[in-house]
Amino acid sequence: MPTVLITGASRGIGREFGHQYAEAGWRVIATCRDPQAAGLEDALAMDVASQLDVEDVASQLAGEPIDLLINNAGISAASGQAFGSFDYDDWERVLRVNTIAPIRIAEAFADNVAGSERKLMVFLSSILGSIAEGSGGSYTPYGTSKAALNAAMKGISGDLGARGITCISVHPGWVQTDMGGAGAAIDVRTSVSGLRQVIDGLGPGDNGHFFDYTGRVLPW
Ligand SMILES: NC(=O)c1ccc[n+]([C@@H]2O[C@H](COP(=O)([O-])OP(=O)(O)OC[C@H]3O[C@@H](n4cnc5c(N)ncnc54)[C@H](OP(=O)(O)O)[C@@H]3O)[C@@H](O)[C@H]2O)c1
Repeated sequence: MPTVLITGASRGIGREFGHQYAEAGWRVIATCRDPQAAGLEDALAMDVASQLDVEDVASQLAGEPIDLLINNAGISAASGQAFGSFDYDDWERVLRVNTIAPIRIAEAFADNVAGSERKLMVFLSSILGSIAEGSGGSYTPYGTSKAALNAAMKGISGDLGARGITCISVHPGWVQTDMGGAGAAIDVRTSVSGLRQVIDGLGPGDNGHFFDYTGRVLPW
């Protein structure tokens, strides 16, 4: 039975990943900030921005193979920002959660993934992190956090590839979640089943690439 570890499994896309992989017979290790509040008593408590939490969960799982690590947890930037009124404290908070935390987690669990059969890592990025296709403007703080995540993912893909691990960034679509809003283009089921198909088809040749939930390769 393959194992998946998901960050930010309390809501939205992360929660749906948990449902779909459990339904497909996988062992699901759900992690979230507050398992009890999320009604996920079996989940492990992990704030992705906390080095202590990450070390604690990594030591609990030491030696256990993780076939697929899904770095899903993420936050939006504070609303109402634009050039002339950027909130730099908020921007740093977004970079810590969306950019630095997923890389810290990739380092913390690399041995688990390298010791598994499938050896996959997926980073939830966004089309707003594409310099070619992103929107800029008020999305600049969030967009930079995902552009930097893509650059970091690409940056570590050589080290991971040398250990047999394939890592990719993905854009899940514009999805109806707390972050995407009720008016978003697709529901979580559509996004996550598309992403699962992309993940299912991954091979070493895909290492370091950026896909959307339909399998389209996205420009940086
Ligand atoms: N929805 C979209 O349209 C869309 C588009 C492009 C990319 N994305 C990306 O997809 C991912 C999931 O987004 P979503 O739409 O499902 O968002 P969401 O509904 O707002 O859920 C975000 C999840 O991340 C968790 N999280 C936030 N900060 C955390 C932290 N410090 N430690 C642990 N967990 C934390 C939240 O946990 P709590 O319940 O504890 O807050 C929640 O489970 C994010 O990386 C997002 O940037 C989403």
